[in-house]
Amino acid sequence: MQELAGYTLFLEKEIEKLEFPSSPSNLYDPLRYFMTLGGKRMRPILTLLGAELFGEKIENALPAALAVEVFHNFTLIHDDIMDEAPKRRNKQTVHTKWNRNIAILSGDVLFVQGFQLLAKQKSEHLSSLLDLFNKTAIEVCEGQQLDMDFESRQNVSIPEYIEMIRLKTSVLLGCALEMGAIVANAEKEDRRFLYDFGQHIGIAFQIQDDILDLYANPEKFGKQVGGDVISNKKTLLNLKAFDMADSAQRIILNQLALEKDAVLKVTKTRELYDLIGARSACEVHMQEYYSHAMQSLSKVNTPEKSKLPLIALADFLMKRDI
Ligand code: IPE
Ligand code: IPE
Ligand code: MG
Ligand code: MG
Ligand code: MG
Repeated sequence: MQELAGYTLFLEKEIEKLEFPSSPSNLYDPLRYFMTLGGKRMRPILTLLGAELFGEKIENALPAALAVEVFHNFTLIHDDIMDEAPKRRNKQTVHTKWNRNIAILSGDVLFVQGFQLLAKQKSEHLSSLLDLFNKTAIEVCEGQQLDMDFESRQNVSIPEYIEMIRLKTSVLLGCALEMGAIVANAEKEDRRFLYDFGQHIGIAFQIQDDILDLYANPEKFGKQVGGDVISNKKTLLNLKAFDMADSAQRIILNQLALEKDAVLKVTKTRELYDLIGARSACEVHMQEYYSHAMQSLSKVNTPEKSKLPLIALADFLMKRDI
């Protein structure tokens, strides 16, 4: 992501400056640990780019950018408990390095700190920023609940899946971008188109995340590979495999959902998905949402050249292996 390295560097320096008290150490050590593990920092970059697109200095959107990254990290700490994930960003997850109670509470602190950071934006923008941030935070929880509910549900439809990932993942990308646009005093209509760009890119991004969960190189990806299969997540791979399977394959897929041996379950499921062609079917959907995103972006009323960094970020996300 060469074109965006400057933004990442700027953000990393600012994230390093975030201060966490030393005591109680079991509350703050996990936060220091988690916030400095890295990550792509894609959401705060979106906020900075959203501001810059309308001619605002990126420094003026920094509190909102940090707020969205801190909030995102809170969701990850809690998501890893919910998904029983052992690894994140190539390191142990907070609830496995410490314990679940510590992960819940330190996650809660990050959640509040997101709002503390956002409150540093100029008062003239605060009401709009808070409306958007509050609405988004609730939607993310709704998406996370649907994601959990779907684990034990059969017959989840593709539109239901899309709505679930729109809520758990995409709205935060839309929010990140629109917060930048709010700080830059952009027109309502442009804010909406930019938000839609974020939502569509977010859906494509989550489809890619589902694919990587099963097909990534574990060292690069930094998360356990096969976790979604182990917990019977209704990913697009899973839905497409069931849709496209013949009746014999569907019986095996149902048996595999009950398999207790995790390694066997992941290996056999991947083999069967490959045979069915589930991955390429998912990639078609991903491309479709990428195109929707580009259509929304083309409606934003700024020079085409000003949109290039956003297109670079979108392209990176489609090709990522991390
Ligand atoms: C992970 O997000 C959670 C999803 C919505 C898939 P990222 O892949 O952006 O995680 P980091 O911040 O780069 O680690
Ligand atoms: C997570 O989706 C979305 C949120 C954290 C809100 P996933 O559960 O697929 O994310 P990863 O794969 O653990 O990063
Ligand atoms: Mg997860
Ligand atoms: Mg999850
Ligand atoms: Mg995932």
